[in-house]
Amino acid sequence: MYSIDTRCIHGEAHSLSDANCSVSFPIYQTACFSHLTPGHNPTGFDYSRESNPTRKYLEETVSSLEGAADCVAFASGMAAISAFFELFRPGDHILCGEDLYGGVVRLIQQISLKNDYRIEYVDTTDPEKVAAAIRPDTKAVYLETPSNPMMRVSDIAAIAEIAHGSGAVLAVDNTFMTPLLQHPIAEGADYVIHSGTKYLSGHNDTVCGFLCTANEAAADRVRLISKTTGATLGPFECWLCLRGMKTLALRMERHVKNAEAVRDWLRGRAEVKEIYYAGSGMISFSVKSAEFALAVLKNVKLITFSESLGGTESLITYPIIQTHPDVPEEQRQRLGITDRLLRMSVGIENASDILGDLEQAFHKGANV
Ligand SMILES: Cc1ncc(COP(=O)(O)O)c(C=O)c1O
Repeated sequence: MYSIDTRCIHGEAHSLSDANCSVSFPIYQTACFSHLTPGHNPTGFDYSRESNPTRKYLEETVSSLEGAADCVAFASGMAAISAFFELFRPGDHILCGEDLYGGVVRLIQQISLKNDYRIEYVDTTDPEKVAAAIRPDTKAVYLETPSNPMMRVSDIAAIAEIAHGSGAVLAVDNTFMTPLLQHPIAEGADYVIHSGTKYLSGHNDTVCGFLCTANEAAADRVRLISKTTGATLGPFECWLCLRGMKTLALRMERHVKNAEAVRDWLRGRAEVKEIYYAGSGMISFSVKSAEFALAVLKNVKLITFSESLGGTESLITYPIIQTHPDVPEEQRQRLGITDRLLRMSVGIENASDILGDLEQAFHKGANV
């Protein structure tokens, strides 16, 4: 097997090749595929909601990077997460990490509510708390590590052991680390989720998501859900993600290097009160006042005030109003998602330009 950075470019053991030997795998922009005669369909492709060659090529590549049995590409990270939450039945107990992307909290509290799941939030940074919260009817543990936006880190292997001991599955959102920096399935996770919108696509130009499965039985169930509910990824977006992933290894190196430079710079600033950094290109920090946070957002020039992450461009986000407004106030306060918290997705520009932009934005905010 090739090393992971080579597989970002070439995939691994693809079941597909292009008849015309194109180096870049083509975009199969078609809704349906012809059959030779009834019952005789040599390509195996019928209809693009269910499967499509460009999507299959992408899914095989992500599956290989994550060491998964299978992977389904969805129209967004939220579509992948919604498919995961379709796996359960009314009354099932599901333990969720306390700090999650706000859209997941909204899904749980406003959409999945009708499914009558018993959802409980737990501090997954402490495996003992997970063990104490597990019940005989617990069907899943769902977490992000590092979490969005507080960068809380959970021990995947320890939690997988606890979950499996009670017959529950573990799902890990690996968006922030990517398969370059963390391998949840190798550590025991059963499902791996990505907002492929972020580092995998990597250029702030595509919305997509992935749900990877560690075994064939889980894969069959996810395939049934994806083909039936239909939020699978279109061929062009598949191709954009494939193209973005070719440089994933290089980009991650630079994201991490630049984020470390930002962390070191923030450490020297009196306006910064706490820094939350756990590797990858993501860093959150709280500043001395809400007014100062707003001044930074207003004055950044190169760094864009925007809500996503994981792309080539540096972005800065105000979680309290952008990514986490649907998290209940009490939960936000407890976690530290306050009006003084900023989250930065450090891009791959020259580090001195990023630091220079922070410097001038902090300087302009000095008098607030
Ligand atoms: C950690 C994490 N998971 C999932 C999602 C949802 O992904 P998408 O925006 O592609 O639907 C996000 C979005 O920001 C996220 O940050």
